[in-house]
Amino acid sequence: MRKRMVAGNWKMNKTPREAVDLVNLLKDKIDKEDVDVVLCVPAINLIAVAESIMHTNIKLGAENLHYENCGAYTGETSATMLKEIGVKYVIVGHSERRSYFKENDVIVNKKVLKAFEYGIIPIVCVGESLEEREDDITIEKIRIQVKKALKNLTDKQAESVVVAYEPIWAIGTGKHATNEQAQEICHEIRKCIGEMFGEKIAQKTRILYGGSVNGKNANELFAMPDIDGGLVGGASLKEEFANIVNADV
Ligand code: PGA
Repeated sequence: MRKRMVAGNWKMNKTPREAVDLVNLLKDKIDKEDVDVVLCVPAINLIAVAESIMHTNIKLGAENLHYENCGAYTGETSATMLKEIGVKYVIVGHSERRSYFKENDVIVNKKVLKAFEYGIIPIVCVGESLEEREDDITIEKIRIQVKKALKNLTDKQAESVVVAYEPIWAIGTGKHATNEQAQEICHEIRKCIGEMFGEKIAQKTRILYGGSVNGKNANELFAMPDIDGGLVGGASLKEEFANIVNADV
């Protein structure tokens, strides 16, 4: 049985002080024990959030990492640094990083492997653009992204990696994929993982849906058989995030 996960992706929002206020609010509202709750926050907020979530079930996540251990990479953050402050998860390959920062599938794979090397679990994002959906190449696109991102993973890593299906047209638009659309692609992702690592492992890998998840649509989306939770952007910046975590599925 896969444990549900609800991960917040704060993107470039909240100062460290605002971050602590939000975490304190969420701590009081979240009342589900059987959900893995992850807050992926800007690097500058990681230490403050790490302190605020101490003695809670909330886990610390980063939004990005570099694939080298250290060196002349101005402005970047390494897995070693994240590890030392208690980061447990890291988002890799978000569509915003793919488009604005030119992260391709090879870079995504390097980052995934580096995160695992330091015991940090990557949340790997995949998703098609509206044009790709209209051209009917969604499944093809997703399969390529999954195969390249998870290349060279061990079976154990493939079991613990988290894949987030985030259609680009649904991110920040208020227009989420229908339950059936999200299920279809999450099922396809699981099939793809099965082809790579075997069905037994694919049944253990958690697959999330992301893209305009909110307090109203979360329970139906999370009830779909291949959707194991959500990656939440806009709604993770407010109290609503607690409702998404607490959703009765
Ligand atoms: P959204 O963002 O929930 O605001 O659509 C999701 C994401 O980008 O991870």
